[in-house]
Amino acid sequence: MPAGSTSLDVKGDFPIFARRPGGRELIYLDSGASAQKPVVVIEALADHLRKHNANVHRGVYALAQEADAAYDDARRRVAAFVGAHRSSGTGAAAAEGGAQTTVFTKNVTEAINLVAYAWGRGSTGGRANLGPGEAVLITQLEHHANIVPWQVLCRERCAELRYLEVDERGELCLEQLDSELARGDVRMVAVSHVSNVLGTIVPVAEMTARIRAAGALSLVDGAQAVPHMPVDVQEIGADFYAWTGHKALGPTGIGVLHGRVEIMESMEPFLTGGDMIASVDFQSSTWNELPYKFEAGTPPIAEAVGLGAAVDYLSALGMERVREHEQALTGYMLERLAGVPGLRVVGPPEPERRGGLASFTIEGIHPHDVAELADRGGVCIRAGHHCAQPLMRCLGVGATARASVGVYNGPSDIDALVDALQAGREVFGL
Ligand SMILES: Cc1ncc(COP(=O)(O)O)c(C=O)c1O
Repeated sequence: MPAGSTSLDVKGDFPIFARRPGGRELIYLDSGASAQKPVVVIEALADHLRKHNANVHRGVYALAQEADAAYDDARRRVAAFVGAHRSSGTGAAAAEGGAQTTVFTKNVTEAINLVAYAWGRGSTGGRANLGPGEAVLITQLEHHANIVPWQVLCRERCAELRYLEVDERGELCLEQLDSELARGDVRMVAVSHVSNVLGTIVPVAEMTARIRAAGALSLVDGAQAVPHMPVDVQEIGADFYAWTGHKALGPTGIGVLHGRVEIMESMEPFLTGGDMIASVDFQSSTWNELPYKFEAGTPPIAEAVGLGAAVDYLSALGMERVREHEQALTGYMLERLAGVPGLRVVGPPEPERRGGLASFTIEGIHPHDVAELADRGGVCIRAGHHCAQPLMRCLGVGATARASVGVYNGPSDIDALVDALQAGREVFGL
């Protein structure tokens, strides 16, 4: 794959790539962990803090209103980026039932905890949404963020936590989903849109239709999808869709939860305190309207502004082009990795069925050593269990190395990785 043969060439937009650590080019293949930031995001953050900084929803003075406008505008742009156009409020949109609200959280982990906690423990009026004899269904390919909150909830509510299995290709079987739903006890199904280990693109729209038809709710963890492919949360049709800003070229400290207004209105709050209330008396309080009911305390204001700039940047590139670029790179990466003796990639072999990452093992070298050897060649990749220990057990490994691409990568980055791996094999006498 000659340089320039993929459709994006935007490394120059990312100031970090001007660095020359150890006198060498910085080769970053760990966007699955966190993405690098384009200058427009860095400048949007700095500009907000320099010129418009004030707390939101409190001040009547002009500066505070500028901060309010910046925060609300960021929410609108972030919601529109994933097709959640009717993004806030409880008025006409709420009356439609299918309308969504967009809540800012700290990250996707907090967004999933919010749902597990606030939906799971009960709705207004005290009726619990999960109890003995009922189940939450997740899958073997989940990140810990989409496992542990459900484990805790199921333990507390004496409910069952069951798993859809991953087959030898790294994919889920929809027949198993059907048979699980047919048992009639599943109240919630939570699933990743794209696996952070296998890369598998999960057919979430097909799944949510079956889940809704069975009378259960659905939550999709879009952490590895939203930054890399066109996502339309209304088309996907999940009751909750969550993602995280820092993987989508935005700042750390901000996550996003799109939820169905009808359900989120019926839920009790998650965190409580300032901003999420309508009124507070000595013994009791009433709750603010959506989305503020789920945004207790001072929200991540500058981070929201930064994320707004990130989604504008991605929109300007065009998410179809982003996907095309990353799919081509992934195809090239799979092809080149296949030439390294003893290297085994996990997950679907077809680039069109996976996101922009490849997790692999090399016979005779521990994954942590693989990452260390890559680093000697100036290439940043991740090694470990990737916060997916149950999946590692299914794969029969303790850890893998993982290379993941972003908009700024090109074929030469993949070549550098493969050169470093080949050199590493020699170090190990292989
Ligand atoms: C699929 C998936 N879900 C959840 C997370 C957690 O993201 P955060 O730490 O931003 O909450 C990650 C991050 O690696 C992920 O890949």
